[in-house]
Amino acid sequence: MFLTPYPHMLHGADYNPEQWLRHPDILRQDIEQMKQANMNCMSVGIFAWSALEPTEGEYCLDWLGGIIDRLFENGIYTVLATPSGAKPLWMSQKYPEIRRVNAQRVRELSGGRHNHCYTSPVYREKVRAINEQLANRFGKHPGVILWHISNELQGECHCPLCQEAFREWLKKRYGTLDALNEAWWTAFWSHTYTDWTQIEPPSPRGETGVHGLTLDWKRFVTHQTCSFFENEIAPIRAVNPELPVTANLMGFYDGIDYRKLAKLLDVVSWDSYPAWHSQKDGDETYNAFWSDAFSDYCRSLLGKPFLIMENTPSQTNWQDVCRPKTWGFHRLSAISNLAHGADSIQYFQWRQSRGCAEKFHGAVMTHANRTDTRVFQEVAGVGAMLKKLDALCGACTPAKAAILYDTESHWAVNAAQGPRNCGIGDTDLMLRFYLPFWKAGISADIIDSDMDFSAYDLLCVPMLYLLRGDVSRRLQEFVRRGGTLVMTMHTGLVDEHDLCFMGDTPGEGLAALAGIRYLESDPLYDGMEERMVLVREPFPMADEYRAERLCERIAAEGAEVLAVYGHDNPCMPDDLPCLTRNKVGRGTVYYIAAFPEEKFLSDLLIPICESLGIRRALDAELPHGVTAAARIAGDGTRFVFVMNWTREKKTVTLPKPMKDYETGRVYQNVLPLAPYGGKILTAAAR
Ligand code: GLA
Ligand code: ZN
Repeated sequence: MFLTPYPHMLHGADYNPEQWLRHPDILRQDIEQMKQANMNCMSVGIFAWSALEPTEGEYCLDWLGGIIDRLFENGIYTVLATPSGAKPLWMSQKYPEIRRVNAQRVRELSGGRHNHCYTSPVYREKVRAINEQLANRFGKHPGVILWHISNELQGECHCPLCQEAFREWLKKRYGTLDALNEAWWTAFWSHTYTDWTQIEPPSPRGETGVHGLTLDWKRFVTHQTCSFFENEIAPIRAVNPELPVTANLMGFYDGIDYRKLAKLLDVVSWDSYPAWHSQKDGDETYNAFWSDAFSDYCRSLLGKPFLIMENTPSQTNWQDVCRPKTWGFHRLSAISNLAHGADSIQYFQWRQSRGCAEKFHGAVMTHANRTDTRVFQEVAGVGAMLKKLDALCGACTPAKAAILYDTESHWAVNAAQGPRNCGIGDTDLMLRFYLPFWKAGISADIIDSDMDFSAYDLLCVPMLYLLRGDVSRRLQEFVRRGGTLVMTMHTGLVDEHDLCFMGDTPGEGLAALAGIRYLESDPLYDGMEERMVLVREPFPMADEYRAERLCERIAAEGAEVLAVYGHDNPCMPDDLPCLTRNKVGRGTVYYIAAFPEEKFLSDLLIPICESLGIRRALDAELPHGVTAAARIAGDGTRFVFVMNWTREKKTVTLPKPMKDYETGRVYQNVLPLAPYGGKILTAAAR
């Protein structure tokens, strides 16, 4: 299954010819230089609205047509963007309503980007009209392979139009004010709504204490963003429903629920910008795993490969310190993107702007305008590698383990006041669960409460604070059918309205499923620790581990106690469980009451995987800093990717001879890895 009508790995960049229309010499050079960089696609038009519609209703598409034609004649495809990410000044001047109003209720001035109102009928109409022009002219162009809708959809608007739309959305959701008041528990602090017009989105100047409101506002922002998106794609679909659409996501951005947006996409894409080389010892493990985690999240969204729409070939201009990828590192980061499901490596940006905010952002072509730079050569090298990887296009990543990370629960647990207001750490905990899988080369999906659990043997549920839909029923079913569930503290405390469950928690039967009962939660200040002391090892484990941040006190009610808290408080009992196990039906439930150190999770989760027969990408012990991942192509070829994130040489003992897919060289039993080296392997023929 190919992501675009073009059955090759994509290699390209954001291309802004509109900045160079007065420099035909540069535009001519671009094409030749792109070919030298082994590029086969360009994302064009992302911020080109004022060049496409310089005055209201006057469309100038010829220059873009010329660019798309010329690229195509030279074997370079176009990922065509709609320009809504930045609005022309004539428009924001004439129609102030399209400018966003912030949470302080102040309307923004013109300028910047990603700051339009999603509700404004005027803006929607302007977007529809320009998209119609683009679609009519280019929607069937043989060189256009994908629509890139807007850019990095984000943010919220508190203007009167958005507020009114929010109230309408609430009316549909609740029907009556009475139902809304009950769902939001508004008798608290006398905040009962007696008229719909009293409802306003949360604001630092107003309401922040009605958590049901906060949660519904976030749901509405997602709804409105999706509705804006649907307005964008309507004219595009009308012309050519076959041409796929994507939106470029941002790593773990939580302003909108990406799971909902993804339902409108044919292809998921994301912009990957880890803070590479931020560690003194050169160990990139912790930067790499964050990026791969989001790749796995993107892969899980539609259950298929995704695109890397942007990454920098060298450095950014917006991180605290903008270090360039060091010698050879770009190839490694690209291999790792492919390993976790990417079918492209694309850059921000093809050519550095001469002026304005991003003039010092890394690019394939820098101001020096030379192709003999280190960065250009490394980019061309990645392009050459991708040219050999047609067989990888569309290759899938079957996962038997998954981590449930629900955006609505994440919103709610972070908006809740208490028990830990300096960071409840749900995302950190999710990533800490992900890390052992990543290190061991076991593919893991990252899914939400609505997604199907039936394909998995192991399901991790870290801090699923909010239970919505029928998730608790499906978790119980998952276990009864033989699944292994690993659940943690701070799970199942509230319902979909952020109302606390009455009775024992984790609610909706999950306490009984785990064979435990929540007693109290004891958050720790940063730097404080308790210990997790094993009293009955489920697998060979260390005697004890560290716990931090949030210690939940629980009672075992049917579950076996595997570990108890070790502490320095003479008044506290010594038998308070922090790890339990309960057998239910054919399945098993582990409950981790503490926020454990990383090693605890790897010592628990990897043996669980082994006991369940969950396979690693490479059946080998990987030294620290070396990771592996696998993808399976349509013809059954199993691609194994091995990455060395350290600046030391490493070796891996292979379980069987493997062939370097690029060079054809066969490694019998030892695979050498250069510092920051990466290899793509397949089984060697016998
Ligand atoms: C984002 C945007 C790009 C550019 C890059 C810079 O990903 O989509 O337009 O600003 O950041 O890193
Ligand atoms: Zn608005």
